[in-house]
Amino acid sequence: MNETALTVHQTARPHGFPTAEHFAFVESTLPDPAPGRALVENLLWSVDPYHREMMDDVPGGFALGAPLEGRTIGRVIASRTPQLAEGEIVFHRQGWRTHAVVTPEEIRRLPRFDGVPLTAYLGILGGTGLTAYVGLTRIARLQAGEDLFVSAAAGGVGTATARFARLLGAGRLVGSAGSAAKADHLTRKVGYDAAFDYHDGPTADLLAKAAPDGIDVFVDNVGGEQLAAAVGALREFGRIIRIGTISQYNTADAPPPRFNYADIVEKSIRMEGFLVSNYRDLQDELYEFAIPHLQNGRLTPDETVVDGFEHIVHAFLGMLRGENTGKVIVRATAQVASDNTGISSGQ
Ligand SMILES: NC(=O)c1ccc[n+]([C@@H]2O[C@H](COP(=O)([O-])OP(=O)(O)OC[C@H]3O[C@@H](n4cnc5c(N)ncnc54)[C@H](OP(=O)(O)O)[C@@H]3O)[C@@H](O)[C@H]2O)c1
Repeated sequence: MNETALTVHQTARPHGFPTAEHFAFVESTLPDPAPGRALVENLLWSVDPYHREMMDDVPGGFALGAPLEGRTIGRVIASRTPQLAEGEIVFHRQGWRTHAVVTPEEIRRLPRFDGVPLTAYLGILGGTGLTAYVGLTRIARLQAGEDLFVSAAAGGVGTATARFARLLGAGRLVGSAGSAAKADHLTRKVGYDAAFDYHDGPTADLLAKAAPDGIDVFVDNVGGEQLAAAVGALREFGRIIRIGTISQYNTADAPPPRFNYADIVEKSIRMEGFLVSNYRDLQDELYEFAIPHLQNGRLTPDETVVDGFEHIVHAFLGMLRGENTGKVIVRATAQVASDNTGISSGQ
């Protein structure tokens, strides 16, 4: 066990793109859990685009000079409550730190399934996968054979969306991403039928080429020009699933997308956004849907795993720059060693 704990603080508000200088690693002695609490050594951390939104001076945003929140999986290493046994693996939200003191109410136990790695609970089975699942099944109400366009298609939500859509019987899958290598990866590995680099020209032209017969559903992780292009490409009764607006998180002054509002009426288009936090009740349904496919190999989790808590800030900034494919997960060095002994597989 490490003798000291490390916690990441935000030290200043960014204007535009954040840098490592907006964060500090703060060292302290290992906390002692009070009665009714347990000490958890964190093993896996999720860094997410919404953390960028929380870096701004917004209601519910990160306080400066204080520990940050984030989804995390850890192991109980000292307990002063009979409800948490030492050695238990738990999920909680005190991320961006090596150790956390938790109450039994603050944690969730993760059901374990043979052949399913622990990282999946922060990715395809976690908030990322649940977002993709809710978007397709509850917001788009996807029908078999329907054609999709997905923006930020190579990221966590984007890859999960394609893999779930395929299992749900979708028709043609078109994705956009930030490089030719990613576009190639999408068609070769993730199951997209066509993909393009959104830097290669006006999105409307690139989309018209990739989806010449139009689309039924647009799963939008990005906003901006890609949203405008999708309105033009949607068929009658098309749906726009608004998941995120990452093209604007670092450019608050970006002009809103311009599109033909008449299209919304004339093509009977529905645009609906949602927050995954309002759909937690579907977590078990996601397990029932995804676990058998993970176990039989029809579903593959897409992940970029960054080793070492000391790299968590770089992992976060790299994700904002598009250095990831699939869900970005930071893994403790101790967990790398455990993975070799099989603790990350179902047990
Ligand atoms: N509604 C909800 O409850 C909910 C839940 C989870 C996530 N989200 C949203 O879903 C989206 C994806 O999240 P994620 O966790 O899966 O992250 P992610 O897609 O794994 O990572 C972010 C990706 O965004 C792309 N990107 C960055 N700047 C961009 C820009 N200016 N224009 C276009 N693409 C850009 C990058 O890929 P490229 O290389 O392709 O540019 C990067 O890899 C985000 O907007 C997030 O806020 C919403």
